[in-house]
Amino acid sequence: MATVRDIIAEATRDLTAAGVESARGDALLLLAAAKGCERAALITDPQREVSAAVLDVFNALLARRRAREPISHILGEREFWSLPFRVSAATLAPRPDSETVVEAALAQVAERAAPLRLLDLGTGTGCLLLSLLYELPNASGVGIEKSPAAAAVAGENARRLGLDHRARIVVGDWTGALKDADVFDLIVSNPPYIALSDKAALPPEVALYEPAEALFAGTDGLDAYRILLPLCARHLTPGGIVALELGAGQRPAVAALASAQGFEIVDCQRDLGGIERALVLRKEAGNLCGSAK
Ligand SMILES: C[S@@+](CC[C@H](N)C(=O)[O-])C[C@H]1O[C@@H](n2cnc3c(N)ncnc32)[C@H](O)[C@@H]1O
Repeated sequence: MATVRDIIAEATRDLTAAGVESARGDALLLLAAAKGCERAALITDPQREVSAAVLDVFNALLARRRAREPISHILGEREFWSLPFRVSAATLAPRPDSETVVEAALAQVAERAAPLRLLDLGTGTGCLLLSLLYELPNASGVGIEKSPAAAAVAGENARRLGLDHRARIVVGDWTGALKDADVFDLIVSNPPYIALSDKAALPPEVALYEPAEALFAGTDGLDAYRILLPLCARHLTPGGIVALELGAGQRPAVAALASAQGFEIVDCQRDLGGIERALVLRKEAGNLCGSAK
């Protein structure tokens, strides 16, 4: 029987040849999934033998990764804000960059026990909404999602995280899903923001496997912001906060669109790569969210 060490060495070569950057780490994750054990157990016991049945399962998973299917889609789960989120082919896999939006939003909340009303536009897996609800124990929120299959994943994540009594996932277009009277204290969104002209530059994991409606926003990547900023202005309570994820280099353009809607730019937080990632806006002074700074 082959050992863990041999299998991982060969799979690492295989994935590297296919252009996968995190080849060894991914090989370990796939073998752990095939064996039903922790990745750490493989690292500490590299001479462990692997049965033919496990190897068959592993090889099937490896073939998917070799075809550049994202590791999170293969495993069906991705960690975000230290919480486990189910993902599927219908959802964008939550990115570490998007944790900047959660951080930026929380930085504006002076009283975490306040009964805040949250709105997440384009909720996908629900990662932004559910992470905020996890941190804000008396808040409740609505996540709007156009894709019924993605909304089903968000609903499942809400249940798995024990947050479904405070999260309502609505299937629909963000322009039609709200009533005029619906207002929120904190609105977050990670909208599609990739320009169609940038499609060719995307890695296969994104271009081939992530839903186009989660990625692209017209010729300049700003179409969703053009729709969402007036929507946010209508549904934000006085003193409320909007936190929007940005694509690289989009801060000046999105800030200009926000100013045109009467928003004040409160903050812009950079992600771990130093990119301006989370734009924080306020429409009118008030103290519902307050300022934690
Ligand atoms: C970039 S993904 C973000 C998903 C998730 N919030 C996250 O941060 O990982 C954008 C999401 O918006 C949804 N979406 C795009 N256009 C929409 C629309 N007009 N109405 C509602 N949802 C929309 C997409 O289906 C996708 O799930």
